[in-house]
Amino acid sequence: MTYPIELKNISKSFPTADSKLGLQILNNINFCLNSNESTAIIGKSGTGKSTLLQICGGLDKPTEGTVLIDGIDISKLNDAKMSELRNKRIGFIFQANMLLEDFTALENVMVPAMIAGKNKAECIKNAEDLLKQMGLEDRMNHYPAQLSGGEKQRVAIARALINNPDVILADEPTGSLDEENAKEVEDRLLDVVKSGSRTLLLVTHNMDFAKRCNRILLLKNHTLTEEKKK
Ligand SMILES: Nc1ncnc2c1ncn2[C@@H]1O[C@H](COP(=O)(O)OP(=O)(O)O)[C@@H](O)[C@H]1O
Ligand SMILES: [Mg+2]
Repeated sequence: MTYPIELKNISKSFPTADSKLGLQILNNINFCLNSNESTAIIGKSGTGKSTLLQICGGLDKPTEGTVLIDGIDISKLNDAKMSELRNKRIGFIFQANMLLEDFTALENVMVPAMIAGKNKAECIKNAEDLLKQMGLEDRMNHYPAQLSGGEKQRVAIARALINNPDVILADEPTGSLDEENAKEVEDRLLDVVKSGSRTLLLVTHNMDFAKRCNRILLLKNHTLTEEKKK
């Protein structure tokens, strides 16, 4: 059986000046991300949730263990192949939206599609459709500085979707938003995951958001455990 993402015996330490072993963050994590489900990772600040998510998406390397994306051991891929796989298969959404300030909302959403080598007219059409889906039809030609936090995050969702990825990795996408904007981003994200039969791996501090996912995992003491949903 292959999973969109599978972690086998993943450990991660960061080097420190005073210890040979370094600072251990993750210890022997085994995890399978189920297809067409949303999975939330919760845990206190500094426990390694972002590190884990970055490892899942091949943006960071584990110290030990194997990451499989669609059954492919990503340590066997060179940088170009890894970037290609990520660009096509995975959409990333970060807490800080990471939009390009000198690009309009439309251009920001188009970037990953242009990188993937799609034709420009098609990129524009798809980006417009996604921004409409995010309720931003009146904002397409605005720059990030002209948008609210919630709007920027909805642009970031559209950008994550432009190459039609199966998997969305979202790191506290509502973490810096007020309640109302957080709720809207939450609704839109869960909606595109459900309606597009996508797979979501979400890091969040918001328990209400986590509870709307199919599974909740707690990162604590360097390891992941499944939380029973009440
Ligand atoms: N590049 C790095 N070098 C050294 N330590 C790091 C690095 N990245 C993260 N850390 C440390 O790893 C721990 C986990 O960080 P992080 O994954 O960001 O946690 P979380 O997302 O759960 O708040 C923190 O103690 C952080 O300081
Ligand atoms: Mg984090």
